Amino acid sequence: MITEQKAYDLLKKMEDPLLHKTLEETNGILEVKAKEEKAHVSVKIALAKTGTPEQLQFQMKIVDALKKAGAETVGIRFATLPEEELEKLRASGDLQSDTGGLLSPNSKTTFIAIASGKGGVGKSTVSVNLAVALARLGKKVGLIDADIYGFSVPDMMGITNRPKVRENQIIPVERFGVKVISMGFFVEDNSPVIWRGPMLGKMLNNFFSEVEWGDIDYLLLDLPPGTGDVALDVHTMLPSCKEIIVTTPHPTAAFVAARAGAMALRTNHEILGVIENMSYFESKLTGEKEFVFGQGGGDKLAEELRTEVLGKLPLQQPDWNEEDFAPSIYGEDHKIGHIYGEIAGKMVQLLG
Ligand SMILES: Nc1ncnc2c1ncn2[C@@H]1O[C@H](COP(=O)(O)OP(=O)(O)O)[C@@H](O)[C@H]1O
Ligand SMILES: [Mg+2]
Repeated sequence: MITEQKAYDLLKKMEDPLLHKTLEETNGILEVKAKEEKAHVSVKIALAKTGTPEQLQFQMKIVDALKKAGAETVGIRFATLPEEELEKLRASGDLQSDTGGLLSPNSKTTFIAIASGKGGVGKSTVSVNLAVALARLGKKVGLIDADIYGFSVPDMMGITNRPKVRENQIIPVERFGVKVISMGFFVEDNSPVIWRGPMLGKMLNNFFSEVEWGDIDYLLLDLPPGTGDVALDVHTMLPSCKEIIVTTPHPTAAFVAARAGAMALRTNHEILGVIENMSYFESKLTGEKEFVFGQGGGDKLAEELRTEVLGKLPLQQPDWNEEDFAPSIYGEDHKIGHIYGEIAGKMVQLLG
């Protein structure tokens, strides 16, 4: 059993993870309620910044502390500190004034995550080509290769140089008008990445906070396949992210992809649409279409997720240009390059 007073006394000594000031100093305790008969405590805490990985850790710290003090169950709600408190903190130098970072609420950048239920369906191919197609439409585009273990974007785009560092900020590598960052830039000689969960979340966070993205319209994220840790980190880190789900036309592939869609919906990410890749093979000789991987997966998935199919991409390799080698990028005049252009146009329209 724990009283409201005791819970309050515990909380007021805990520090806002961003400010390193106690919740008492920041007036961050908005509400403490204890139902003594049930040993349940519910609290409402205001932080300088919500939706951060630090918030998650702080949440666990609070639950721990309250349970040690006798609570059986704990409910926590978070809010952002009121503007006048933030103003006071800025004035005293405890909170750096918001320079309009990518993750700040007044950021004009739209995040678009490309997800799939499993690997090998062409998620990275779709990510790099959509990024390039959006840049061809004159948009300012960034691309994060968030597949930290299975990074492939640098190779697919034919990027051979590494990012430069300027005043502790990483300058993304620009290729075909797209600013790119990938774990692949930071490992030597294609060695495997062997980190565990918490490091991954940190790395991802660095991709947002320590990279000089500048003023960009769209930031695409090539997510790892499936619904694992990194995908979940992205979902929690970016509360207003849009999603595109990639699937092959086989009905079972669509079934697996639906899980990625369900994850997006559960974290309140809006699904922009479905892209069906490897939809068919079209004979160059006869023009006949063969549905080598089955049919209907994209439509079925879109129906299930109550969204639309943004496009269907046939099987075909890009034309390789030995002088400017980018093995997975389709030229603007390539048949598939055209389809990417159409999808990009639809996306711009949908995003208003
Ligand atoms: N429409 C397509 N036609 C031909 N090959 C494709 C197509 N889409 C993807 N591929 C190839 O399939 C493989 C898997 O694609 P990739 O984008 O790496 O998938 P994922 O990121 O989902 O694992 C790659 O070798 C890629 O070049
Ligand atoms: Mg990939």
